Amino acid sequence: MSLLKRPIILIGFMGAGKTSVAQALAQNYQCRFVDLDEHIASSENMSIPEIFNQYGEDTFRALEHQYLQQVIDEYEIVSTGGGIISSDETFEFLKTVNADIIWLDAPFSVLYTRIKDDQNRPKAKNTPKETLKNLYSSRVSRYNEIAFMKVSTNSTFNETIATIEKNISANDQY
Ligand code: S3P
Repeated sequence: MSLLKRPIILIGFMGAGKTSVAQALAQNYQCRFVDLDEHIASSENMSIPEIFNQYGEDTFRALEHQYLQQVIDEYEIVSTGGGIISSDETFEFLKTVNADIIWLDAPFSVLYTRIKDDQNRPKAKNTPKETLKNLYSSRVSRYNEIAFMKVSTNSTFNETIATIEKNISANDQY
């Protein structure tokens, strides 16, 4: 049985560490977790780069929206892709969802070293640093608007997890 009172959705830019954090939280809270990108890829039987290459980003955003709505009822913890807030429709949906949205973040320079030239990230592959920096800046206000807490992943992994769990327990008092 899950030890979480409310479901959690992890958001944040590429390289923020959403999937690893989601895995650790799922283990500690004994609950089900899904990585939305992995779920899309396995459901569509295509990798994320294949979906981008063959159908384009708009189709990927539509799939993200469709599968997010589906997984939200089936899993207690969902880690999302960095562009989950790009589509207005998904952004509006996230505002209404009954879950704690946690924004994982780190300085852009740190995120950049984690993602640069990643072949599995179409938005990062062969993308100049300045372009990625602009993409990051363009997303920050949306992450901030829907997040119930922002947590830095620019510390040790254990510190990040401890900070999140402390905030969740403090929030559970109310
Ligand atoms: C994307 C981030 C990726 C993935 C896709 C698009 C983005 O997820 O959803 O490549 O637009 O930022 P991660 O944040 O897990 O890398």
